[in-house]
Formats: sequence, structure tokens, C-alpha cells
Amino acid sequence: MTTAVVRAPAKINLGLSVGPLREDGFHELATVYMALDLHDTVRVTARDDDQVTVTVQADAREGDEAVAVPVGPDNLAVRAVELLRGAAGFTGGVDLAIRKVIPVAGGMAGGSADAAAALVGANHVWGLGWERDALADLAADLGSDVPFLLHGGVGIGTGRGEKISPVLSRGRYGFLVVVAREGLSTPSVYAEFDRLEPDPEVPHVAPELMAALRGHDTERLGEHLANDLEPAALSLRPELDRVLQIGLDAGALAGIVSGSGPTCVFLIEDDADAAMLTAALWASPGCADVIHTHGPAAGARVIA
Ligand code: C5P
Repeated sequence: MTTAVVRAPAKINLGLSVGPLREDGFHELATVYMALDLHDTVRVTARDDDQVTVTVQADAREGDEAVAVPVGPDNLAVRAVELLRGAAGFTGGVDLAIRKVIPVAGGMAGGSADAAAALVGANHVWGLGWERDALADLAADLGSDVPFLLHGGVGIGTGRGEKISPVLSRGRYGFLVVVAREGLSTPSVYAEFDRLEPDPEVPHVAPELMAALRGHDTERLGEHLANDLEPAALSLRPELDRVLQIGLDAGALAGIVSGSGPTCVFLIEDDADAAMLTAALWASPGCADVIHTHGPAAGARVIA
């Protein structure tokens, strides 16, 4: 029986500029993604028959996350392998065993990470030999941020976030991630954005953000972190304002809501600051976990 163990990273949006609502129901975006050293792991095992099964094991955290992850055909990893085998004209099945660390419904692309890992794993155990770019083209149908999670590192996402151009960035950055007890639905955050911002500008990537990444200038990066979805997330979840304030008061360089939230991410100057900041952030409202992590990290890949 062939098995592949695949790790896929979480993402944050260092910059997320949101433009007008398109006719297909998505918003035009210009975003700078960074993959983080915070991974879900998917064990993909080829089956003798054509069944696709999935199990989900979640880290113990306040609020039972496994409940929030569908284990039927709606699971994004299941949809990913079904899409791949359809596109490849393949008839085999797989067992998917997902170990979740990335917060569920947290704005860090946890479901998309599992889909990216499932694509890489099924491609491997079925011996299909698809290149990463071909997998990324397919991945766009699963979710706007799945292509980025196949590439990893730092990338600019345009279109609805699915068109990726890699960004060369120097060095690593430290982050603290505050996981909320209760998730937020991405469509509801975008709907709130439309209500607050009925006539948004054409989205753009801030040149200062790119310059900070090129120069590995942590302080400058902190000054230019920006998320157009943040007001919408704060409107739906007002206590996030307090979470951001606690992190800044405790010495983080900058704090933003990650993607559509409710996870908040803080950029830190020095790993030595992490313990004190972690203690302060644990006291923030609705906090289920505080994770110290780094970026950028590699995209979805086979590790065993
Ligand atoms: O692509 P993904 O499945 O992650 O999108 C989830 C939802 O988020 C979409 O159905 C849409 O409501 C919203 N979205 C959007 N514009 C984007 C990406 C997502 O409005 N560029």
C-alpha cells in the first residue's frame, strides 16, 4: 500500500487590498501572501478500490474544532482528490487522514491547506507525475488561496487571489498567532466589506511592503501590514479590536486580522519577546490559543 505524508502551511496576508465585487461573486484582490511554519499534515494512502475516505484529528484547543470540519464529500481535501482523479482520468481511491493544527474558519486557509496537501499526496501515491504548476491550475477551482499553498514562500495573488507571482524575500520573520474560540465565515466578512465599502478602489500592492520584504526590514514591514477586510471583521467581532490593542501594548511591532479573520497575527521584532507577548495575549477576549511561528515556509510537500 503506497502512503505519502504531506505537510501544507497556513498563510497570512501581509497586505490584502480588496476591490469591487465581480459578476462571479468574488472580489478582485491584490494580496501579498506569506506561508507560515504552522502546518496541517495529511497522510494519503492509495486504496485498491475507488473509495475516498477522510478522518480528521484536531489538536486539543478550547472549542471542539474537529466538529467544524466536514468529514464527508464536502471536505475540501476530498473534493481535491476527486477533482484530480477526474482531470487525470484515473479511477483509484485514497484514504486521507488529516491532522489539523491550523485554526478552523480562522482566515489562515486551513481547509485550503488540506486541499493542497491532498492534491500533492494523491498525485504522489497514484504516480500521476503532474507538475506543481498543473496542480496549481486545478487548485484554483477548489478555493482562491489553494494555488498559493502549493507554491508557498511569499507570493502576490491577483484575480480573486488565485493567480500567483512569486516574490523574492530575504530572511525570516517571527509571528504570534491568536486563535479565536469561534470562527468567522469568509462570505459573511466579504458581505460586511461590501456594506461598509460599497465603492472600493482598484486593488493594489503597496510598494513599501515589497521594499520591506526585499530589504528584510522587519520594522518597515510592520508599518505597512494592511488588510482591507479588517474593518469588516472588527464590525462582526468587535472584541478583536481589544485583541489587537493588547498585542500592541505588549510590544508587538504590528498586529492585523489575518485574511477574513478572526485570527489575529502579530509581527514581533525578536523571538525573545515571544514569551512575554504570549502571556499577555492569552488574556485577550475569546482567545483559544496563542502560537509562536515563523515565515516564510515552503508550500505543500511530501515529507515521508
Ligand atoms: O475562494 P474561496 O472558496 O476561499 O472563497 C470563499 C468565499 O469568500 C467566496 O464564496 C466569496 O464569498 C468570498 N471571496 C470573495 N472574493 C475573493 C475570495 C473569496 O468574495 N477574492
